Amino acid sequence: MSCVILAAGKGKRMYSDLPKVLHAIAGRPMLRHVVDTAMTLNPEQLCIVYGHGGDLVREALADVSCEWALQDQQLGTGHAVQMALPALPETGSTLVLYGDVPLIRLITLQQMLDAGQGDKMVLLTDIVDDATGYGRIVRDADQRVISIVEEKDASEAERHIREINTGIMLLPNKHLHQWLGRLSNQNAQGEYYLTDVVGMAVADGVEIATVNPAHSWETFGVNSKVQLAELERIHQLELADRLLQQGVTLLDPARVDIRGQLEIGRDVIIDVNCVFEGKVVLGDRVRVGPNTVIKDAEIAADTQVAAFSHIENARVGADSRIGPFARLRPGAHLASGVHIGNFVEIKKSEIGEGSKVNHLSYVGDAMIGKGVNVGAGTITCNYDGVNKHNTVIEDGAFIGSGSMLVAPVVVAKGATIGAGSTITRHAPEDQLTLARARQISIPAWKRPAKDKID
Ligand code: UD1
Ligand code: CA
Repeated sequence: MSCVILAAGKGKRMYSDLPKVLHAIAGRPMLRHVVDTAMTLNPEQLCIVYGHGGDLVREALADVSCEWALQDQQLGTGHAVQMALPALPETGSTLVLYGDVPLIRLITLQQMLDAGQGDKMVLLTDIVDDATGYGRIVRDADQRVISIVEEKDASEAERHIREINTGIMLLPNKHLHQWLGRLSNQNAQGEYYLTDVVGMAVADGVEIATVNPAHSWETFGVNSKVQLAELERIHQLELADRLLQQGVTLLDPARVDIRGQLEIGRDVIIDVNCVFEGKVVLGDRVRVGPNTVIKDAEIAADTQVAAFSHIENARVGADSRIGPFARLRPGAHLASGVHIGNFVEIKKSEIGEGSKVNHLSYVGDAMIGKGVNVGAGTITCNYDGVNKHNTVIEDGAFIGSGSMLVAPVVVAKGATIGAGSTITRHAPEDQLTLARARQISIPAWKRPAKDKID
């Protein structure tokens, strides 16, 4: 089996400079969804028909091993498949997919392949209430398909047909090559219709089977931002449903967005309005509070992430507490039992077991040992305007509130830093280090009084 994906359409109604098929569903270009589904079928050949000026499309899918066929002018779906012909073998079948129909399911395509055994033609059709805009499936008295008629070419009677052509079809290659050569554009739209091969198949005695998708949305196409948003919601509800089936508790399955791969353990609870991007792993019994964004991160068992936290490219150990309002930036590696509180930002730092940074702090380029307590408002001054420098805080150290740790600097094991210190040099083991002006009081001091005006 070979596969052709039609992706040359302009997408005028998107009102966007981005080619239509690159608009994203669940964070991935629509075309990427279709390519991934096609690839799972392991086709002999995959050919993507792209449009004039679609170099952006090729670049966006540069990692895919496939053939690219340029369709300079969009002269119709038949013409588009013609562009792919040189890439297609003489035997076997070709599955035609659309780059702007992203939610087609593997199981449906598999059914088409099964129905196509023995070089049959297979059409994916659907019965709909409103067939406006679609090609209609015309059958004879014995219910055999005899043609597809486009709406603009249809008679009044044909327009009443509710069985529509979804556009996805499986075509036997040995006929395809000569059928496409015989297409004409003598029709209402002046286009080369791929659908005209159906009539040719009937004339050549090729059997035509039809398959229906389990869900109508599988064949919904995107021509506007409205339709893009509709498919996004449908897809997200599907993903949420899959999570529920796996035993995740979603406080509202309509308010979660998964833009990547989410791996979850047992008894995970996810509150509303969370966004998961890239590859995220949540261990057993992890709880994620509302309005949290987690991207490319691993959160180990029993950890709680409270509301409004933002985690990216980070690892959090077991039994930890993050947030609310915490920010873990790339390279934040937390051991187990760590507490990161509100308005704390951690970047490229290791934080040892049981350590706490609970309030209003910035920790960047730091190595923090075990059992360390970092007081409120502590800042690792890691940047001198040119270079980044490291801060080391060894096991059991206690950093008083409001401290500035000017890197490079080491706070040794068990050291205590007095609140409000600006630490620029080594703070020795087990000692109290203070670096601040001594407090003075002036007993005879008077508050200034208001000047008297006569
Ligand atoms: C086509 C079918 C119609 C079916 C409908 C389903 C034909 C003649 N008609 O309609 O029976 O009900 O799809 O949506 O096939 N494309 C190209 N190059 C072209 C033309 C189209 O790559 O020259 C691509 C489009 O980007 C799109 C797909 O083919 O992905 C379908 O094109 P579109 O114009 O949306 O469909 P219709 O031709 O109106
Ligand atoms: Ca068209």
